[in-house]
Amino acid sequence: MRALVVYESMYGNTRQVAEAVAHGLGRSVLARAVSVAEVAAADVAGCGLLVVGGPTHVHGMSRASTRHSAATVAEATGSRSIEPHADAGIRDWLAQLRPDVPGQKAAAFDTRAQGPALLTGRASKGIAVQLREAGFELVSEPESFKVTSAPELGPDEIERARLWGESLAAKIAPAI
Ligand SMILES: Cc1cc2nc3c(=O)[nH]c(=O)nc-3n(C[C@H](O)[C@H](O)[C@H](O)COP(=O)(O)O)c2cc1C
Repeated sequence: MRALVVYESMYGNTRQVAEAVAHGLGRSVLARAVSVAEVAAADVAGCGLLVVGGPTHVHGMSRASTRHSAATVAEATGSRSIEPHADAGIRDWLAQLRPDVPGQKAAAFDTRAQGPALLTGRASKGIAVQLREAGFELVSEPESFKVTSAPELGPDEIERARLWGESLAAKIAPAI
């Protein structure tokens, strides 16, 4: 049984969450996190659980324009380093993604600002919709991990991500 966590990240928060989710999954199944820029169709084929995560930009998944804004802010302020492959987005990748088998299992997460999702928006909602419409079966409600205004992950979010990964593994365990 293999699980794959595919992420998009500009400032590194979503990558850190993806790695923590893979760590949690890894207690029960073979799991790894990979950037959307580097994932191959063969990685998705045959995996028992696909987890997809991205940053919330303008209330939803990023677009080329919002990624450009994020890079411009980082360059102008010099306050943040940009991840390798930060120009790749999950929105376009999801648009061409199809399950390996009907009902292949999946889950969605995002990173976003603190506060009610009604105010901040959350990319995970759109990710979940696209996964479901493509024919995946979601094993969990979409999950959000919160960043401060820095933006850095809140103090407990990495541990929460690891535990979420463990809980996902428990949900797919009967299928092993
Ligand atoms: C261009 C841009 C737009 C954003 N829009 C939102 C938003 O609408 N809602 C929100 O909660 N956070 C928003 N954020 C904050 C990001 O979701 C947050 O910093 C996220 O953790 C970044 O993930 P990353 O470090 O993996 O790039 C925005 C950030 C950027 C750069």
